[in-house]
Amino acid sequence: MAATSTAARQPHEPIPTPAKVPVALIVNGTREQLNIAPWTTLLDALRDHLDLTGTKKGCDHGQCGACTVLVDGRRVNSCLTLAVMKDGAEVTTIEGLARDGALHPLQQAFIDHDAFQCGYCTPGQICSAAGMIAEGKANTPDEIRELMSGNICRCAAYPNIVAAIQQAMSKP
Ligand code: FES
Ligand code: FES
Repeated sequence: MAATSTAARQPHEPIPTPAKVPVALIVNGTREQLNIAPWTTLLDALRDHLDLTGTKKGCDHGQCGACTVLVDGRRVNSCLTLAVMKDGAEVTTIEGLARDGALHPLQQAFIDHDAFQCGYCTPGQICSAAGMIAEGKANTPDEIRELMSGNICRCAAYPNIVAAIQQAMSKP
């Protein structure tokens, strides 16, 4: 009978858990101090640690745009962004777009144009559209479609979404 190596008989050593790291974020105007595992995505930090569940997890792989938020004014896929990478940054989520009790022009436009069915993609669509408008590169429906192509809508509300964005862009 072949001898079994001593190493094979050893129980597996538990893998030590890395220390949690402090991360400060300014979320929708409020400073938040988190103590999180270093691999925590910005999406999970928002949803699981700050209870801001408006931002949705769709694919969790950077392919659908449901998790789009604004970081220092620029749109990012929060599922592909580690929270520690954004220490000190300003984050705006769908919960932070309304001002003084009034909907953001994009939120109102999405309602006006019936630009959703299930609504799962909508927070990401609206945050992405806010970022796209700030970029100032879309002037035509085709350009809107191209620059919003990272945001998938399984309900295929695309014509209504483009119409809503055009309405918001027409407002000063
Ligand atoms: Fe982030 Fe799909 S959940 S891109
Ligand atoms: Fe359902 Fe866009 S409204 S996925």
